[in-house]
Amino acid sequence: MAKRIQISRHGGPEVLDYVDFQPAEPGPDEVRVRNRAIGLNFIDTYYRSGLYQPPALPSGLGTEAAGEVEAVGSAVSHLKVGDRVAYATGPLGACSEVHVLPAQHLVKLPDSISFEQAAAMMLKGLTVQYLLRQTYQVEAGQTILWHAAAGGVGLFACQWARALGVQLIGTVSSKEKAELAKANGAWATIDYSHEDVVQRVLELTEGAKCPVVYDSVGKDTWERSLDCVAPRGLLVSFGNASGAVTGVNLGILAQKGAIYVTRPTLFAYANSAEKLQAMADELFALVESGQIKVEIGQRYPLADTARAQIALAGRQTTGSTTLLP
Ligand SMILES: NC(=O)c1ccc[n+]([C@@H]2O[C@H](COP(=O)([O-])OP(=O)(O)OC[C@H]3O[C@@H](n4cnc5c(N)ncnc54)[C@H](OP(=O)(O)O)[C@@H]3O)[C@@H](O)[C@H]2O)c1
Repeated sequence: MAKRIQISRHGGPEVLDYVDFQPAEPGPDEVRVRNRAIGLNFIDTYYRSGLYQPPALPSGLGTEAAGEVEAVGSAVSHLKVGDRVAYATGPLGACSEVHVLPAQHLVKLPDSISFEQAAAMMLKGLTVQYLLRQTYQVEAGQTILWHAAAGGVGLFACQWARALGVQLIGTVSSKEKAELAKANGAWATIDYSHEDVVQRVLELTEGAKCPVVYDSVGKDTWERSLDCVAPRGLLVSFGNASGAVTGVNLGILAQKGAIYVTRPTLFAYANSAEKLQAMADELFALVESGQIKVEIGQRYPLADTARAQIALAGRQTTGSTTLLP
């Protein structure tokens, strides 16, 4: 038997149960991982609330963790018991002492990266990899806008942008978060709790606006984001921290300067073992070279996942949050 976080219905943090369960034996293409550290992500709150639907209920929760291979299926040849691995895609259930998942979702960890660092960076760092390097290939000298810059994904974005010579304007909701984003490489910050984001972006870009705007806040920032994109630029809407963007009239894209919009997911980019490995190699190299430091702002025991989710959804966290089994 092992312990995991499980939901039997959708709702607030009170629906998160910490239960005993019987981990499965891995199928031919699967691996069983003993998790040593787990990453908390905003998407976990969407599956809990019902904004996103798990395949069935009851369901495990979570997609990001790192640990040791405990058992391998008969068709798995590139992993063996004892290997240090990490993952950020695949079936729900990472918020658990052990997780069984297809081997194609696992990458081997370099010795220099600890389990906790890996759990804190896989999903968030790989997300920034595809957003800055694939969805739009940012270039040195460009000025971009990134919402929630002091959050988990946000601090990776600040550092990765700095490494690429990109000027990242980060939005934040407090002075402390502004300082943290700046310390991690943001070129400028805007406190969107009281500053006029559009006006500040116009000032900072001398009227040019941004070739690309990254918005994971969603409902509350969508309108303002549209006004920060340069003509024929790209708005990347990649999250719903304040609620989902709905009811969009496509004509708005014409009015704002024939701009483009995309709604990407990590799972659509890291959709093969080869692509996942290539993205992870890039992330690991930046961490090993010291250009990206993994900021773990909070740690909770796995049993306290509800408390961790309350803090994340309540805007009380900075950087990454880990859950320790
Ligand atoms: N599409 C993808 O592939 C993908 C992958 C990973 C993550 N994401 C998305 O990226 C976002 C960041 O994820 P994360 O796990 O790193 O979380 P996070 O950024 O650490 O936390 C969310 C942040 O959003 C800001 N926020 C603004 N309005 C909010 C509201 N009404 N309620 C709560 N937070 C609000 C808060 O920062 P301030 O206090 O500074 O406003 C908060 O700290 C999420 O929207 C997530 O769904 C998308």
